[in-house]
Amino acid sequence: MGFLQNIFKKKKIIEHVHEDFSGLITDVHSHLIPGIDDGSKSLDESISLILGLQSLGYKKIITTPHIMSDYYRNDKEGILTGLKRLQEAVKLHKIDMEIDAAAEYYLDTHFEELIKKKEILSFGKNMVLFELSFFEEPKLLDQIIFDLQLEGYQPVLAHPERYAYWHRSFSHYEKLIDKGVIFQANLGSFSGNYGPEVMKTVGKLAENNWISLLGSDTHHMMHIQLFRTLKTNQVIQRLLIDNNLLNSKL
Ligand SMILES: [Fe+2]
Repeated sequence: MGFLQNIFKKKKIIEHVHEDFSGLITDVHSHLIPGIDDGSKSLDESISLILGLQSLGYKKIITTPHIMSDYYRNDKEGILTGLKRLQEAVKLHKIDMEIDAAAEYYLDTHFEELIKKKEILSFGKNMVLFELSFFEEPKLLDQIIFDLQLEGYQPVLAHPERYAYWHRSFSHYEKLIDKGVIFQANLGSFSGNYGPEVMKTVGKLAENNWISLLGSDTHHMMHIQLFRTLKTNQVIQRLLIDNNLLNSKL
């Protein structure tokens, strides 16, 4: 890229800096239903977190409790009951925020069974958020992507930048993109919150235009404080300017 183009690009970034994440409109990844996973512990805490997300510019939240057969045995019914409670509390506090729910599915045989039984909580038209082990490469990945697509779902991989076993083999990311998986990156990854390798990887995913969704993955107030420091992060701003993110369409 030429010198003048570079200056122009930088100027464009500065001109478009918002003081918040209002360009995203919708957050697609958080743990705000109290007491059902490692996120919010009470309805009061959920309300504080929702107010925090509102102060960052969000208008809508699709919250995504963990469904993991070993640790968080949540199901569709439990999540929807929790969602209703949360929506009522938001209304009671007169907070102008739309709240919806899906789930963050851990890739295990339980997830595979749920897909086959069509007991999946999706968001948007047909998107399904799923995560992988942080410690070992997933064995069921190809099969589950195939199962999801066969049932008409759009697989959305949560925080691909956080899987350390792929940091040095970028071809894995490329293969997933080729299969039609879309990537949801975490805001915190851009700050180095999850370490320098994660920050480097999320930068590379952004450079390749492989990030379709940004998620806060909010669990507690420390996350909200962290996001305040990221409002003018240049890589995030670049993603917003490029306008390829799907958040605002949900
Ligand atoms: Fe999460």
